Amino acid sequence: MRGIILAGGAGSRLRPITLAVSKQLLPVGDKPMIFYPLSVLMLAGVRDILVITTPDDLPQFRRLLGDGSQLGLSIDYAPQSEPRGVADALLVGAEHIGDGGVALVLGDNIFHGHGFYGLLQENVRNVDGCVLFGYPVNDPERYGVGVTDSRGKLVALEEKPAVPTSNRAITGLYFYGNDVVEVARECRPSARGELEITDVNRHYMKEGRARLVDLGRGFAWLDTGTPASLLQAGQYVRVLEERQGVRVACVEEIALRMGFIDAETCYRLGKELEGSAYGRYVMDIAQEMPLEEYSGLRR
Ligand code: TTP
Repeated sequence: MRGIILAGGAGSRLRPITLAVSKQLLPVGDKPMIFYPLSVLMLAGVRDILVITTPDDLPQFRRLLGDGSQLGLSIDYAPQSEPRGVADALLVGAEHIGDGGVALVLGDNIFHGHGFYGLLQENVRNVDGCVLFGYPVNDPERYGVGVTDSRGKLVALEEKPAVPTSNRAITGLYFYGNDVVEVARECRPSARGELEITDVNRHYMKEGRARLVDLGRGFAWLDTGTPASLLQAGQYVRVLEERQGVRVACVEEIALRMGFIDAETCYRLGKELEGSAYGRYVMDIAQEMPLEEYSGLRR
């Protein structure tokens, strides 16, 4: 399974901040936003990743993440010349996806919660059609929402419904099987001129090949699209990290725990950032983690 992080877009709700910087490079807590979706792919065990962003922003992402080898990953980059919609990522990334499946995550989505690793591992394998992740929200009219049968099969999908039949918003994490590029090629631009990911998902729903997995109330799915929500997400991360003394979406730590890098490499990566508390945390993790912890995530 390959991965795509979609990190382009206009970021119009965050202007003027996003006039010169990509939204997905803005800080959430003490790290760039893209670390959060990158962590999700890593926890799913996805190591071959394409970052899609605007031609202007692409060099900065490359400067931040390089070719990914320092984290035991392979990271490549592709430009999206215009924000043609989320489903357009599947066309821009068609070659990267090849004839395998893909895990697509939106670059501005933050997920956090106990048991996420297990949930990802359970659902990332042998995807036939699509696997979506639903989250209960109190304003479903702002989202795409889904209804399932008792076995988790998606039976209804509505985009920003005036009168919602469900409060389960479809989050920005999608697992697709190997025919997804063909399905995306069939999509036509919507009234707002975008290739809609909902159309791709609806295709699978109609074929009875779409599943919606619930992220329970113990999870956090955070929005970062507006100045207020960006600040809130940063505060959420900071409160958790200060209280628990562990970091959310520390990609070096995840690489170590997943067995993508060894402790020595992890220590060296921390040392390069030694001037910051983040860097010192990475060094501590590399030195302190008991051996059995490493296999904790590998299982
Ligand atoms: P949105 O939040 O829908 O759009 P945006 O980021 O451009 O922000 P705004 O609405 O304020 O203008 O996008 C969700 C995510 O998908 C975000 O990480 C940007 C990314 N995206 C692209 O990379 N390309 C696209 O064509 C679209 C529509 C979104």
